[in-house]
Amino acid sequence: MREHAKRLDLLPRYLFAELDEAKAAYGEGVIDFGVGDPDRPTHPEIVNALNRAVKDASTHRYPNYEGSLTLRRDIAEWYKTRFGVELDPETEVCVLIGSKEGLSHLIWALVDPGEEVIYPDPSYPVYRNQTLLAAGKPTPVPLLEENHFLMDIPRLRATQQTKLLILNYPSNPTGAVSTPIHLSEAVQFSRSHNLWLVNDNCYTEIYFDDPPPSVLSVPGAKDCAVEFGSFSKTFNMTGWRLGFAVGNARMIAALKKIKQNTDSGPFTAIQRAAQTALELVSEIGSQLRKLYKSRRGTLLAGLNRLGWIVPPPKATFYVWARIPIQGQTSLGFSKRMLSETGVLVTPGIGFGEAGEGFVRFSLTIERAQIEEAVDRLSKWL
Ligand SMILES: Cc1ncc(COP(=O)(O)O)c(C=O)c1O
Repeated sequence: MREHAKRLDLLPRYLFAELDEAKAAYGEGVIDFGVGDPDRPTHPEIVNALNRAVKDASTHRYPNYEGSLTLRRDIAEWYKTRFGVELDPETEVCVLIGSKEGLSHLIWALVDPGEEVIYPDPSYPVYRNQTLLAAGKPTPVPLLEENHFLMDIPRLRATQQTKLLILNYPSNPTGAVSTPIHLSEAVQFSRSHNLWLVNDNCYTEIYFDDPPPSVLSVPGAKDCAVEFGSFSKTFNMTGWRLGFAVGNARMIAALKKIKQNTDSGPFTAIQRAAQTALELVSEIGSQLRKLYKSRRGTLLAGLNRLGWIVPPPKATFYVWARIPIQGQTSLGFSKRMLSETGVLVTPGIGFGEAGEGFVRFSLTIERAQIEEAVDRLSKWL
């Protein structure tokens, strides 16, 4: 009997597929704070730009593996304006079919079997799962509430086998934002231990206080670091599949080599529309910040009224909430909440062991639904 590769058995079921099943089992009327997928449509000017580009037959052919030079130039220009970071579009920028694709391929490009990848716990499951697929050794580092969910860099330990340090600020699921000092510590640690460093910065424009920094603003960062960006959350474009990696030219070259042998880059028409998106980044960014701030306020005020006190996230559209009932696992709590109220949240354990005791609300539903959810919870909690 033919079997799939053994490495597939290393992977747990993809969390969101499991949540979809639980939601289907409940039936109609679920209020879904689960997956982080913006509910509002893409800006009409971006859609129009795509329509125009699709009509140009030259976009129908294979794209460049690393993305069009014009889009790479625009990304470099935006990095200069937004973060004061200079990038060479030829060697330091690579366009991706979503940042998930690039993160996955970069891990494959950098990590040899047995090498350690340090990543935050809780975090986006792809860091761990792709490390497992690449036969690397996942090395999660707990993020603690008392440390504002910042990775405690001075207490990190690297061994001869440590290859890569992954950060994700602004953080999914905690909503934490890094500081220039914290990012400097990470760069210093990576340089002194000869590690590669990644910051997954795909929520960079969704913030409520100061704009989050880039790791590439740290002097010397380009010696060891790349940063990932995404059009998904910044522009309500999750379905379009477009992201980018910027920074260290050797890391970018390694990533491109994998991509040349795996995919052929994103559809050129989508890349053209992305140029329009970047022109609108300030306008769209401020609209989204206003939207999520108001939803965040509605949810936190509502939970507060129920005695469920949750600190406000500094960025992203997630609310990371400690479970208000003692002695329940995050999965048990979430399943009960779904079956008894129809309110779906993501159990913290899905983001790593240190996520136990928490659940994540995604603010990607309208305020009226958030109010309805609070109402249902008030009768339940
Ligand atoms: C932290 C983090 N990184 C990367 C991604 C992937 O985003 P993209 O749509 O660009 O592949 C997500 C998506 O939820 C995420 O939360």
